[in-house]
Amino acid sequence: MKELIIIIRPEKLEMVKQILDTQNCGGMTISTVMGCGTQKGIVEENAVNVIKGFKTNINLLPKIRVEVVVPDHSVEEIITELRDKITTGHVGDGKVFIRNIEGAVRLRTGERNEKAL
Ligand SMILES: Nc1ncnc2c1ncn2[C@@H]1O[C@H](COP(=O)(O)OP(=O)(O)OP(=O)(O)O)[C@@H](O)[C@H]1O
Ligand SMILES: [Mg+2]
Repeated sequence: MKELIIIIRPEKLEMVKQILDTQNCGGMTISTVMGCGTQKGIVEENAVNVIKGFKTNINLLPKIRVEVVVPDHSVEEIITELRDKITTGHVGDGKVFIRNIEGAVRLRTGERNEKAL
């Protein structure tokens, strides 16, 4: 099993939910977070400031963090769908971090691992 931590623009949440639903994900956890990537939160039209070497403080932008644990075989298809459907081609489209998950338990039934997803 793998956990995908998918950090996206807030307006892409509905599309990500649709993608995960189509991929038969058993559940997901969503949080609103603040973050920045390599541009340090500078929006694209101001990114020239970086090139000119202006000193700029890190700026955090609102993002949505989606956590979903899936079977190993689902990972690449989900990433392909995300690349196809939520990419704008502009900076800030987001990122997926992939973690190994050692185990899972559905508390109600005691089912383990993929059966518990
Ligand atoms: N190395 C990182 N560690 C933790 N969170 C990150 C990291 N990189 C990006 N994020 C999170 O992902 C969000 C989106 O990042 P973003 O898409 O801007 O990445 P990027 O590397 O700057 O790529 P791009 O050049 O396409 O903008 C950030 O706001 C932050 O919440
Ligand atoms: Mg960025």
